[in-house]
Amino acid sequence: MKKHLTKLRQWVAAGLSVFILSITVNASTAQTSSGLSDQKIASIFALEKVYLNNAYNTVQKTGKLPRSTAKGFQTVSDWTSGFYPGNLWFTYEFTKDKDILKKAEYATALVENNKYFSTDHDIGFMIYCSYGNGYRLTKNPKYKEVIVEASKTAIRRYNPEVKSIMSWSPDTARDWKFPVIIDNMMNLELLLKGTEFTGDSTYYHIAINHANTTMKNQYRDDFSCSHVVDYDPATGQMRKRDWNNGNSDPATASWSRGQSWGLYGFTFMYQSTGKKEYLVQAENVASYILNNPNMPKDMVPYWDYRAPKYPTLRDASAGALLASGLLKLATLSPENGKKYFKSAERMLQSLASDAYLNTSGQGDYLLKHATGNFLRKSELDGGLIYADYYFLEALLAYQKIKKQFDKV
Ligand code: GLY
Repeated sequence: MKKHLTKLRQWVAAGLSVFILSITVNASTAQTSSGLSDQKIASIFALEKVYLNNAYNTVQKTGKLPRSTAKGFQTVSDWTSGFYPGNLWFTYEFTKDKDILKKAEYATALVENNKYFSTDHDIGFMIYCSYGNGYRLTKNPKYKEVIVEASKTAIRRYNPEVKSIMSWSPDTARDWKFPVIIDNMMNLELLLKGTEFTGDSTYYHIAINHANTTMKNQYRDDFSCSHVVDYDPATGQMRKRDWNNGNSDPATASWSRGQSWGLYGFTFMYQSTGKKEYLVQAENVASYILNNPNMPKDMVPYWDYRAPKYPTLRDASAGALLASGLLKLATLSPENGKKYFKSAERMLQSLASDAYLNTSGQGDYLLKHATGNFLRKSELDGGLIYADYYFLEALLAYQKIKKQFDKV
């Protein structure tokens, strides 16, 4: 009898272990199936390596850098020239591949002269995405010098009356005297580094003033923003809201990549300065975007949240940039972090699916269905180098923080 009881206890114990094991297996399967698995992310970086290598021969031969399916390779003075080096840095960060490191160093050196680029505001994209990432990963002191020189150049476009950096040149045909665009928020990151590296607070204060002016004039009450705001450079007064990308009605247009530039910009401004008003702004913009009735189910935005008609073309670059910004915001917002993380995860899942990912191994771009400028019929529904850049950045961030949010 005692023997039978012992046997029974052993069976019950064994059954219980199988049961517990099956719960554990199911739970871990559910965890990986509810997000992007490490293997999936690794396979995307492996694919990106193919596209980086596909482009590299032309980069070496011509000194030009890939911009988009439609516009091909462009000279280093193009606003997008920092993204290909940036993509090499992100891929090196993930793979630790020494060959990719060599290519990242080579492509970064190609854009060095942009540290003197003052034709418009784009110096931040050019230098921060290339040298900024290079410095973050290598601590090469030469890279730091380039970033400091570029910060000096960037503030030459600052006007203390407007309290803003002038993004583009005055344009009589458009009746612009001092045009500032929402994209310009992204270039403040360079200035914050300028102060961090030199101890000179001038760059920091200019970044703060620019962000405050943008917050005051670029946004409507519902936290949608217009692409362009023009100022009187003598008085600093706002003259008008206008457009160049997105929908053309300045009263309502809500260019999706522009909304993403703003969200990302105010998020890192809060992250770097600790000023609460930037967190509030970023969260209000996030709320406008995430509750927008024209946000598609797969959460890859159309080119404008108020386009003349739907369905219309998607902009994968707006989605990738939004995902990256939301992942940053997720770590900064105790109240809504989980919501931002889950939304970004949904966007990344869509972008990582065959619907958006170029799995062919042909060409130079990882993502499909990005839109440059819809109304100007420019770079429609193809690959854009900066869509890939923010997608890779978002994947790296996602991998770093997903454990934290799986637990919440
Ligand atoms: N910064 C230019 C664009 O987003 O099209």
